[in-house]
Amino acid sequence: MNLKGKNIVVTGAASGIGAETARLLSAEGATVIGVDRNPPAPGLVARHIAADLGEPGSIAIAAREIGNGIDALCNIAGLPPTRGRVPVLRVNFLGLRELTEALIPQMNDGAAIVNLASLAGLGWPDAIPAIKSMLALRDFDTVEALCDTHGIDDARSYFFSKEVLIAWTLQQRWTWRERGIRMNCVSPGPVDTPILGDFLQTLGARAEEDMRVMDRPGRPTDIAPLVAFLCSDDSRWLRGTNIACDGGMHSHVLANLYGLS
Ligand code: NAI
Repeated sequence: MNLKGKNIVVTGAASGIGAETARLLSAEGATVIGVDRNPPAPGLVARHIAADLGEPGSIAIAAREIGNGIDALCNIAGLPPTRGRVPVLRVNFLGLRELTEALIPQMNDGAAIVNLASLAGLGWPDAIPAIKSMLALRDFDTVEALCDTHGIDDARSYFFSKEVLIAWTLQQRWTWRERGIRMNCVSPGPVDTPILGDFLQTLGARAEEDMRVMDRPGRPTDIAPLVAFLCSDDSRWLRGTNIACDGGMHSHVLANLYGLS
C-alpha cells in the first residue's frame, strides 16, 4: 500500500475513526487535509479546514479552500441518532454528497472516495422507495418533510442515512469511470469512539445483544487500515462496493437471517 505523496482529504478528522485514519495516512506518507467543525489534535493533519458539513454554504467554502490536486477523499464525519433526524440526514448523507460532488472537479484522475457507512445500513434493499426519494432530494431544508412522508423518526434516521449512503455508492459505480475516479463504502459494526454510547442509548436491547455476541467492540485502529487501502492504487478494481469491517457481525446477521446459524 503506497500512499506517499498523495493529497488526501479526511472529514471527521478531529475524533474517533477519522482521527485514526488521518494519523495512519500521514504515517504512510500522505499529506492530509482535515475537515471538521472541531479542530483535530495538534500536528495530526497538514492543514485543517473548519466547516459545518450539514450546511451547503459552509461546504462550498470548504471545497474552495481545499483546492485542486486531491488524490482521495475519506468521508468519515457523522452524527449518531441521538442528534435528531434532520441533522443526522444533513450531515451523514446530504452534506457528504454535496462535498463529494463539489470536489470531483478538483480531484486528480484515478482518485478514490471512501464513505464511512455502517452495519446499520445493511437493510438498504428493504427501503428502496424512501431511498429513491432521498437520492432525488437536493434542498437541505426539505429533509424533514421527506422524513414525515416515509415515517423516519430520530432513531430510524441513522439507519436510513447509512442505507442511502450504501445505495448511492452502488449507484455511482461508473459515474466517473472515464477519469478513473471510484467510490466505495466501509461498514463497521460498533466501534469504541465517543459516539458508541449514543448508539447503545438509541438501540437499547438490540445493541446489548450485539455487544454480547461480539468478542469486543471495534477500535478505530481496526477500521483505518481498510480505509487507507481503499485510498491506495492497490484497491483500483474495487468500485461501488460496501465492505463490512465488524469482527463478523455482518456475517452473523446474514447467517441468522438465512437459517445458517
Ligand atoms: P466521532 O464522534 O468520534 O467522530 C465524528 C467526527 O465528525 C467528529 O470529529 C465531529 O466533530 C465530526 N462532525 C460531526 N458533525 C459534523 C459537522 N456537521 N460538520 C463537521 N464535522 C462534523 O465518531 P466516529 O465513531 O469516529 O464515527 C465516524 C464515522 O463512522 C461516522 O460516519 C459514523 O456514523 C461511522 N460509524 C461509527 C461507528 C461506531 O460505532 N463508532 C459504527 C459504524 C459507523
